Amino acid sequence: MSDKGRGTWGSNFGFLMAAVGSAVGLGNLWGFPYKLGKNGGFAFLLVYIIFVAVVGVVVILGELALGRKTKLSPVGANRAINKRFAFNGWLGVLASFIILSFYSVLGSWSIKYFFTYCIEIFGSGFNGMSGPEFFGNFTADPVQSIIYQLIFIILTSAIVIVGVQSGIEKFSKIMMPCLFIMLIIIIIRSVTLPGAMQGIEFMFKPDFSVFSDVKSSFDVIASALAQMFFSLSLGMGTMVCYGSYLNKNSNLVKNAVLIPVFDTLIAVMAGLAIMPAVFATGIDPAAGPSLLYITLHGVFESMPGGAFFGALFYLLVAIAALTSSISLLEVSTSYFVDEKKWSRKKATVIATIAIFVVGIPTALSFGLLGDVKLMALNGELMGILDWMDYVGEYLLMTLGALLMCILIGWVAKPSMFVAEIEQSGYNFKYKRLWSFMIKFVTPVLVFITFLTATGLFDKIIALFSK
Ligand code: TRP
Repeated sequence: MSDKGRGTWGSNFGFLMAAVGSAVGLGNLWGFPYKLGKNGGFAFLLVYIIFVAVVGVVVILGELALGRKTKLSPVGANRAINKRFAFNGWLGVLASFIILSFYSVLGSWSIKYFFTYCIEIFGSGFNGMSGPEFFGNFTADPVQSIIYQLIFIILTSAIVIVGVQSGIEKFSKIMMPCLFIMLIIIIIRSVTLPGAMQGIEFMFKPDFSVFSDVKSSFDVIASALAQMFFSLSLGMGTMVCYGSYLNKNSNLVKNAVLIPVFDTLIAVMAGLAIMPAVFATGIDPAAGPSLLYITLHGVFESMPGGAFFGALFYLLVAIAALTSSISLLEVSTSYFVDEKKWSRKKATVIATIAIFVVGIPTALSFGLLGDVKLMALNGELMGILDWMDYVGEYLLMTLGALLMCILIGWVAKPSMFVAEIEQSGYNFKYKRLWSFMIKFVTPVLVFITFLTATGLFDKIIALFSK
């Protein structure tokens, strides 16, 4: 298996920045703070960190090892271990496709906000419109929504098309440190606002009232788990794909620990950037998905220097979203390159067009298609964006992670992957623990998340509480 034409990372630092870039995205800046707000603050944070440590690191190590062992993108990698598991790679391609179709819409809004705040610095970008008003007008306008979606996808595609080393790696290596610095500047602004203390307390003050009944406890657990999978880009082959570009002497364990550490650090930092400001301006911390765009508008409006910090903040969001969307697109591109032997250029262009088309309904889902409701497996009706997120994040991603644990833990043998991890001469001290986790603990937890998403869990709990 030669990696001619596939590409490899130039350095471990480059790989690390690309992988952290994939992990750090809207999930950290948008998902984490609002889920924290909805699920009781500190309690959620604690559960989340435990899951990252005991599940996240285990799965990410498995994915990286699978990728590097086979040197193939997800479909080929799964197939190389067991022919019947090729479909798991397919599921990954499908899931990354679905996620990217709505991710690009959410990400594209940050570009619009960045531009508008830049204009606002010099005058009136928002023309005095309130947060909900501006957001409503913008997202209801089909032409603008689609143009921004297109801009975002073209930017993503422009990076992927250049290649693994000179496109993805180079972009991430420059942008991730910038993102970190920008985030620190925003945190300083946020925690020095009068009344910010309440937000910090909300995040770190122990309060376990959400665990007072079984149903809400499971909701917190399942939502922390799903959030963790999403945030670490797991369960659909992104890390398999990135791992396949690693060279044989890189240290997989070190990377599998560093990626989650950085990702969690940045999620907590995003909370610190957002929560104190939200409390300082008296806004509901559990505002939901609208937090990142509508709620924060009010925050920047009322803070001194708000237009400047607004521009900086949305630039940061755009960069974080881009380094993630390139990893999602890379899954499809690498599939065509490996399996169909297409050139990188052809593969990227075709995948990009397809993702753009599939994303159009989502881009229109706040305007023209605002009334369309789709059904989840538990019978709940939701808008197009939420439904895409539900299918991608809750169903396909958990299913993909479950199948991967089964592949590594049961179909093949964990020892096969331990050998891959140790082949650079590294002595993997925790190999027994890791094998045990990936065989028994991780699949069970992932299965619980899957059951919750399908609504079956509620039924089981109802049976027991009768
Ligand atoms: N992890 C990214 C975020 O937090 C999103 C993402 C990128 C992703 N690649 C992925 C999620 C693969 C799941 C699978 O925003």
